[in-house]
Amino acid sequence: MANLRSASYHFLLALQFLVVLQTKVLCYQYKVGDLDAWGIPTSANPQVYTQWSKYHNLKIGDSLLFLYPPSQDSVIQVTEQSYNSCNLKDPILYMNNGNSLFNITTYGEFYFTSGEQGHCEKNQKLHISVLSGNGSAYSPSYGPSALPDISPSYPTVFGTIPQPPSSSTSSSSSSLGVPVFVAAVAGFAVRALVGGIM
Ligand SMILES: *[C@@H]1O[C@H](CO)[C@@H](O)[C@H](O)[C@H]1NC(C)=O
Ligand SMILES: *[C@@H]1O[C@H](CO)[C@@H](O)[C@H](O)[C@H]1NC(C)=O
Repeated sequence: MANLRSASYHFLLALQFLVVLQTKVLCYQYKVGDLDAWGIPTSANPQVYTQWSKYHNLKIGDSLLFLYPPSQDSVIQVTEQSYNSCNLKDPILYMNNGNSLFNITTYGEFYFTSGEQGHCEKNQKLHISVLSGNGSAYSPSYGPSALPDISPSYPTVFGTIPQPPSSSTSSSSSSLGVPVFVAAVAGFAVRALVGGIM
């Protein structure tokens, strides 16, 4: 029984590891506004950046891609005050290569606007909230989707360890259980790795 306990303990550890792995692998690069160009919103959609950030749940590890003609625009990260007042002085970060990637490495509030005069006033500004990974904000969308994929194998793993009929076969059957378990875990690992690569 001790064997089975430690086997299931290790199984849970492996499971936990895979869930963490899958969560880590699922990082996204978002094109800001889903637009091909970071720029002054058109009159048809003046709130494009506000709308966009409302419907995207950004996490640590994700990145924001700002695409724009480098001679015509730029991206600055600013404080909340500067964001509200469109103060372009002393930005936290200034990017103007036309293909700017902002990597989200901490949680918190992030404020961006254009470094060009007048653009902020025309709503070329973006505010995102990255919620901390430990609270209610933990995005659970990946956990549950990973679990059903793995759990069907669970009965298989322990199904090979029958209740010992108290005969001499019990020792051989319980030693059989471990290789099957190892094979199953290896299978998961391979699947996770393949999934991670693709
Ligand atoms: C984000 O990461 C990419 C590569 O991983 C790097 O090229 C880029 O400079 C980073 N962005 C910032 C703002 O540090
Ligand atoms: C975890 O959440 C608590 C409150 O919900 C917060 O005070 C703390 O800074 C958070 N820690 C991390 C590492 O996110």
